Amino acid sequence: MIFKFQNKSIFYETYGEGPAMLLVHGFLESSNMWKPFLEELSKKNIVVMLDLPGHGSSDVLAETHSMELMAETIHALLEYLNIETITLVGHSMGGYISLAFVEKYPEKVEKLVLINSTPLADSEEGKRNRDRALKVIDQTPKAYISMAIGNLFAEESRDKFSDEIENQKTEAYSFPLEGIKAAIRGMRDRKNRTEVLKNFPREKFILLAAEDPIMPIAENTHLAKETNTFVKIVSGGHMSSIEKRPEVEEFLHFVG
Ligand code: MLT
Repeated sequence: MIFKFQNKSIFYETYGEGPAMLLVHGFLESSNMWKPFLEELSKKNIVVMLDLPGHGSSDVLAETHSMELMAETIHALLEYLNIETITLVGHSMGGYISLAFVEKYPEKVEKLVLINSTPLADSEEGKRNRDRALKVIDQTPKAYISMAIGNLFAEESRDKFSDEIENQKTEAYSFPLEGIKAAIRGMRDRKNRTEVLKNFPREKFILLAAEDPIMPIAENTHLAKETNTFVKIVSGGHMSSIEKRPEVEEFLHFVG
């Protein structure tokens, strides 16, 4: 289904009934990433999923999709659906956006769940890599998308999940390049929200992966403790929803 935000189309879907659980995908992903978990989650919840601006079937909103702008998109969707409070689940960039949402609308979030994500901002080197990506993507978009997705998986997952990886690449090739670049700028410019996570007064959970190439496990485990966030660690790379599907399902069942 489609709702309008800033006169642009945003794709969303809802399933089930009960307390609301809103699922926010990451960079170069779409609401499709949550499909394998729907049957279980929608037994007890109304599950709301959207394609973030510039991803999947949703329009591009601006040159930069700041984490705040994407959080505003989620807020508008909740208003549109008349949903008061949610369990908010975010994968990676979806976690950055969830923290921006919590900062602005803390009373709307009953539980916060981060998967392969971090409250930290990009390091200076990380910001330089984003700027490099913005150049490469204009020159060789397909090669950039293929590499960016492939690099997220642990080495030993690349053969095992080659079909899933190909599917994710094929989907991402269809995203508008302006949308991909808008998200890269938004991630590059995001602020550190460790204090937001720390000050969030209700239940908060984070799932981290031991071989995640972009979320260093030691640093993020330490941050979880510092912010009183319940932490679960699984093996594998950044794409736990594919690489460790049963564990993620169990985790979501546990938090729900
Ligand atoms: C994601 O998976 O959402 C992104 O790769 C996160 C990032 O690049 O920081």
